[in-house]
Amino acid sequence: MTSLLVTGVGELTTLDQSLGTLADAALVLDGGRVAWVGPSSAAPAADRAVDVDGAAVIPGFVDSHAHLVFAGDRSAEFAARMAGEPYTGGGIRTTVAATRAATDDDLRANVGRLVTEALRQGTTTIEIKSGYGLSVADEERSLRVAREFTGETTFLGAHVVPAGADPDEYTALVCGEMLRAAAPHARWVDVFCESGAFSPEQSEAVLRAGIAAGLGARIHANQLGPGPGVRLAVALGAASADHCTHLSTADVAALSTSDTVATLLPGAEFATRSPYPDARALLDAGATVALATDCNPGSSYTSSMPFCVALAVREMRMTPAEALWAATAGGAKALRRTDIGHLGVGARADLVVLDAPSAVYLAYRPGVPLVRAVVRNGELQWQ
Ligand code: NIG
Ligand code: FE
Repeated sequence: MTSLLVTGVGELTTLDQSLGTLADAALVLDGGRVAWVGPSSAAPAADRAVDVDGAAVIPGFVDSHAHLVFAGDRSAEFAARMAGEPYTGGGIRTTVAATRAATDDDLRANVGRLVTEALRQGTTTIEIKSGYGLSVADEERSLRVAREFTGETTFLGAHVVPAGADPDEYTALVCGEMLRAAAPHARWVDVFCESGAFSPEQSEAVLRAGIAAGLGARIHANQLGPGPGVRLAVALGAASADHCTHLSTADVAALSTSDTVATLLPGAEFATRSPYPDARALLDAGATVALATDCNPGSSYTSSMPFCVALAVREMRMTPAEALWAATAGGAKALRRTDIGHLGVGARADLVVLDAPSAVYLAYRPGVPLVRAVVRNGELQWQ
């Protein structure tokens, strides 16, 4: 692998504590890692050099929450919502039927399409969940397909109870045979803890079974209403509690004194026309906040981290700097990763060159394709 010097960086946001943000900077990428960071004037020689001519460079986005293994389309459900229908999660079963009917190659092609779409918008790490199979065989193959695209795979057999199944019997299946089939292909276990999905007791059983099988815990919590999901996440030491749309003061306090990241998914509030989570309360209390897309065909069919950053800034009162951190370093924390989400020396060489002089433009120019180039693992992926 040859080394690459990226020079002429107008604004380099490293999110590394000692390096901070540098003007007129350069970095050297070698062996898939960041090897050197400093002023352009002091840059060492490398095998290849590229001058980005004053552009801003940021760490690659870390999308820590996406449901990419599915088939079918729910645009009619979205249109009905925009005409006043509420979001209930009931459409998940529509996607389950389409996913079960799809071939492995259909699923693989759809995941590949979405991963490429995300990469073109600067996402260099993506978590992918199962959860539209809901049978032993369909959950196992969903994770097998997801594994072809990412190491951050999540077993979400406990997404909803499939039509006609008994909730307790299905929970026992998820915790037993389904988990045994899924665990070899998964890093994480997740559950939709919500009335209409899984009760707190069922959710705890699923997460504990996953932890016992060697998986890390994460949870869909407090999305459609207040509930015990966030506190369950904190009690079990989950890496992340996701959605956090309806939080009590006690939930905010619990998150702020724990290692559990609050992962906010503003694409879901956008597409379900719901109130946005109170990011300010979380940040002001000292909680760690991540931003992710929740990309799925029902509640949030966006793969765009820049869009989520813009929503977080405009609708959730995060500063541009807080939102950028949450979409990169925050996502890394939600995945318990230290090698990504920043551009310190030794970090994985994942970065985005923006068609802009500053990262503030991600929110300042919403909807504009500002990603000029993406480097992943030291390799130029797209330009
Ligand atoms: O994270 N809340 C549960 N699951 C997804 C939605 C899935 C769907 O509607 O298909 C979410 O928003
Ligand atoms: Fe989700």
